[in-house]
Amino acid sequence: MSGPVADVGCGSGNITALLNGLGVDAFGIDLSPAMIALARRNHPGLRFEVGSMTEPLTEPVGGIIAWWSLIHVPDDEAPAVLAHFRRALRPGGLLSLGFHVGDGTRLKTRGFGGHPMRVHVHLRPPGRVARWLREAGFTVEARWLLGEDQAVLFARCG
Ligand SMILES: C[S@@+](CC[C@H](N)C(=O)[O-])C[C@H]1O[C@@H](n2cnc3c(N)ncnc32)[C@H](O)[C@@H]1O
Repeated sequence: MSGPVADVGCGSGNITALLNGLGVDAFGIDLSPAMIALARRNHPGLRFEVGSMTEPLTEPVGGIIAWWSLIHVPDDEAPAVLAHFRRALRPGGLLSLGFHVGDGTRLKTRGFGGHPMRVHVHLRPPGRVARWLREAGFTVEARWLLGEDQAVLFARCG
């Protein structure tokens, strides 16, 4: 991988930590200062920053993992996020997206541990996400379907 991996929408940082444990130079970004504080507390020594995927990434990266985080961005903003990802990735870089399969939007009112919250979760057919990826300049290389309602896509930029 030429460059670090950005775990975008890293939440509590578990995937960032897992990647570092595998020898990958990964750092985390999340919109929520509370999640970044938790990630820093749980994984001291790793890099976590507050930021939004709706803004350009501030450094070039070799890979981006955005598992169950683009789900919070509405359809009309998602292609712009993928364009930011495409611009930040070095040639040949890999992007992985994890998301809920379906169609439409749900309001989520409970977070981890039952804490009250109000966030929208956008469900998508994998074909729609694959089309956005192609339109942003990615080649979809693999797709995992996890049960009936979760998917992970892997895409590479040219
Ligand atoms: C369901 S959690 C997923 C956490 C982690 N990726 C995982 O799979 O365990 C979604 C995370 O995305 C973050 N998020 C939502 N909108 C975001 C945005 N525009 N930019 C960055 N992070 C965002 C939320 O704060 C939350 O921590």
